[in-house]
Amino acid sequence: MNIITVKQLCKTYHMKGYDNEVLKNLDLNMEDGEFVAIMGPSGSGKSTLLYSVSGMDTIDSGSVEFNGREISSLKKNELSKVRLNEMGFIFQQMYMLKKLCVFDNIVLPAYQAGKDRNSVNARASELMDRLGISDIALREVSEVSGGQLQRACICRALINEPKVIFADEPTGALNSRSTNEVMQELRKINRDGTGIMMVTHSVKVAAQCDRVIYLVDGTIHGDVHLEKLENENDLPMRDRWLNQWLMDQGW
Ligand SMILES: Nc1ncnc2c1ncn2[C@@H]1O[C@H](COP(=O)(O)OP(=O)(O)O)[C@@H](O)[C@H]1O
Ligand SMILES: [Mg+2]
Repeated sequence: MNIITVKQLCKTYHMKGYDNEVLKNLDLNMEDGEFVAIMGPSGSGKSTLLYSVSGMDTIDSGSVEFNGREISSLKKNELSKVRLNEMGFIFQQMYMLKKLCVFDNIVLPAYQAGKDRNSVNARASELMDRLGISDIALREVSEVSGGQLQRACICRALINEPKVIFADEPTGALNSRSTNEVMQELRKINRDGTGIMMVTHSVKVAAQCDRVIYLVDGTIHGDVHLEKLENENDLPMRDRWLNQWLMDQGW
């Protein structure tokens, strides 16, 4: 089953004096539970694609179906509900409220969704435990490392048990050790059934996904399915293979 179906998606930014046509008649399907990497040169429209598909931004024409509903036909409050309950978001810049401690940031989307606070708190504790950050629960956002903060963002993205996590360069600001840790976690989350659509510049990161989409000038230039990654030892070979594939795409 497709969790996301994009048909003939067009998105233009209207600038002073000219129009910047960013996404051009883009077609894309994502299956339930898939782990998709979006790659492509800077400015090719990767972030715009993520924002369009997740309803963060409006589209000019075409359609985006998410979990059986046409996103652009939803009323504002219906869309907010879908975004809150069925989507999770992780960004390179880790947006957290500085006035709240890490734990309160994580539970906020679930409180907003009106969920039972006791079970939300229990789930947050369990998630923090799984991601190895229980000890920073009560710290201020400014007091924790980038890697810890990114793991806290993952907890927050998962708090409402979304169908899909949208991640825009989630490891872009991390060192290689934190990148590996975050990727291990994302893969676990994905194995447990959550779909992930992730923009990345890193071949090593993309090689750990099920599928890589290569965007050029707002259209899909290449789209390749990788085998399920069962064994860490396969990673260097996948890296090399993906490097070659990307070079063939003009990377
Ligand atoms: N909010 C915006 N307003 C106007 N132009 C934008 C906006 N966001 C992105 N763009 C332009 O759209 C194009 C694609 O941007 P983006 O989707 O961020 O690319 P990528 O994520 O692949 O680097 C770029 O030319 C960028 O300058
Ligand atoms: Mg971007």
